[in-house]
Amino acid sequence: MEPQASCSAAAPLTERKFHVLVGVTGSVAALKLPLLVSRLLEIPGLEVAVVTTERAKHFYSPQDVPVTLYSDADEWEIWKHRSDPVLHIDLRRWADFMLVAPLDANTLGKVASGICDNLLTCVIRAWDRSKPLFFCPAMNTAMWEHPITAQQVDQLKAFGYVEIPCVAKKLVCGDQGLGAMAEVGTIVDKVKEVLSQHGGFQQN
Ligand SMILES: Cc1cc2nc3c(=O)[nH]c(=O)nc-3n(C[C@H](O)[C@H](O)[C@H](O)COP(=O)(O)O)c2cc1C
Repeated sequence: MEPQASCSAAAPLTERKFHVLVGVTGSVAALKLPLLVSRLLEIPGLEVAVVTTERAKHFYSPQDVPVTLYSDADEWEIWKHRSDPVLHIDLRRWADFMLVAPLDANTLGKVASGICDNLLTCVIRAWDRSKPLFFCPAMNTAMWEHPITAQQVDQLKAFGYVEIPCVAKKLVCGDQGLGAMAEVGTIVDKVKEVLSQHGGFQQN
């Protein structure tokens, strides 16, 4: 892994691909990470990287994710001396767009209150709010209906982040109701909308 090389954002958008950083957290919907990444890679002109929480790793196999995958250990292994890169800062520089899918209740709460105790939450805490950040909540219906959830989602929107709302269905735990992550197709369509608003990126 070479974060300095792979994280370069120095070239103007017209001469390079559009950099999408996918954040993934410990919701069962992280099962869909391989599908989400493969669908994103079908979009011309995109370069994709993933930042994962430790809990999210439980739900997918890294070999099914064909892009660079960053996690907490990378942040600390890379930095040994003053001149070494700080990964969460390099990643926020590299990314043109951040998509947090799924965003679980735990990380939602952290982001809403500014906690940054892992690589993903550090990237978000340091996020350049002139760049788009979309988030896809995913949690059990009981968690979703707790009043703290709406407060925290509203806080993220107040930061300028865009919600891709969850949907109602029979959840993996057997409960029926709101809380399931938006369909991958819906998420990919939203990414395409963002790209169409950034028409200057390289299309091949
Ligand atoms: C099988 C399983 C499925 C889970 N699914 C969800 C979920 O869909 N949404 C959620 O908010 N938490 C879910 N959790 C709980 C989170 O994994 C837990 O809060 C964890 O601490 C999240 O860590 P992270 O935010 O650092 O990824 C699940 C836990 C387990 C064991």
